[in-house]
Amino acid sequence: MAKVLITGGAGYIGSLLTGALLASGHEVTVVDSLMFGGESLLPYFSHPNFRFHKADVSVEALDDHLAGVNTVFHLAAIVGFPACQQVGEAVAFRYNTEATQRAFEASERAGVGRFIFASTYSNYGISPDGEPVTEESPLHPQSLYARTKIAAEEWLLERGRTSRCAPVLPRFATLFGISPRTRFDLIVNQFTLGSFRIECGYPQDMGVTTSSRSCRNAGGPIGAGSPRALSLAPSGAPRPRGSTSAPGRSHMGHRVGTARGVRAWTP
Ligand SMILES: NC(=O)c1ccc[n+]([C@@H]2O[C@H](COP(=O)([O-])OP(=O)(O)OC[C@H]3O[C@@H](n4cnc5c(N)ncnc54)[C@H](O)[C@@H]3O)[C@@H](O)[C@H]2O)c1
Repeated sequence: MAKVLITGGAGYIGSLLTGALLASGHEVTVVDSLMFGGESLLPYFSHPNFRFHKADVSVEALDDHLAGVNTVFHLAAIVGFPACQQVGEAVAFRYNTEATQRAFEASERAGVGRFIFASTYSNYGISPDGEPVTEESPLHPQSLYARTKIAAEEWLLERGRTSRCAPVLPRFATLFGISPRTRFDLIVNQFTLGSFRIECGYPQDMGVTTSSRSCRNAGGPIGAGSPRALSLAPSGAPRPRGSTSAPGRSHMGHRVGTARGVRAWTP
């Protein structure tokens, strides 16, 4: 049994990872500032191997939560280029690069063996010759988001040369599918949601409930480019004219990828 700490464990990936690790018998501590709320973690609170600490890892120290931890999954970040654009360069680097440095340094101090940093395929940007990229391909960042992740990668790789803690840097492609905090701003999820015809009820396997009000308002298919589908875009994306959805809620009334913290940000 390993002892694991996950930063950003309440998010789209982290809330699934938490469940998978608990199911495999590991002890899991999640540290998250709950930008999107904490509902995604509620099922785990009764698990004897689960711990949660609400903290912002860009300013708060992780040291108190790292005793005996073997592996850190560092997922906490301002995710995606619209969100990074919205918070601006200084905040994006503080959350995605400097917080990574802080988390790694705390992990080193605590004797953690492995630090897994969630990087992104966005780092590759546009392939210069149009061919598929490999791990050896040069990086051509096209966004502030990618620049913050590359800066964190470079720092970790350099530090990892002499550290007893091994950084591991998977560059995820855009994920899809359902999670306790499903992100509907991700392209495949957005297309999938858009392909459902909303009549008077909502597919139960999407894990959301439909209010009677949204039943009355619903009707007709949602195309991926329609205003209602676009209302699922994250806070950084332009809201369609005429959209009636409340910020942070889809037209169905469920929470979508709009970070409370990000929306209210003051650098
Ligand atoms: N989802 C994808 O397709 C994808 C692809 C490539 C890389 N990634 C990377 O994977 C990681 C997780 O992505 P996700 O899709 O789960 O995102 P997410 O936005 O759903 O989750 C991020 C979580 O981190 C938390 N967080 C952010 N800043 C924090 C801070 N300073 N302190 C504490 N908690 C903080 C948020 O509250 C949230 O719960 C990110 O680092 C992201 O860059 C994701």
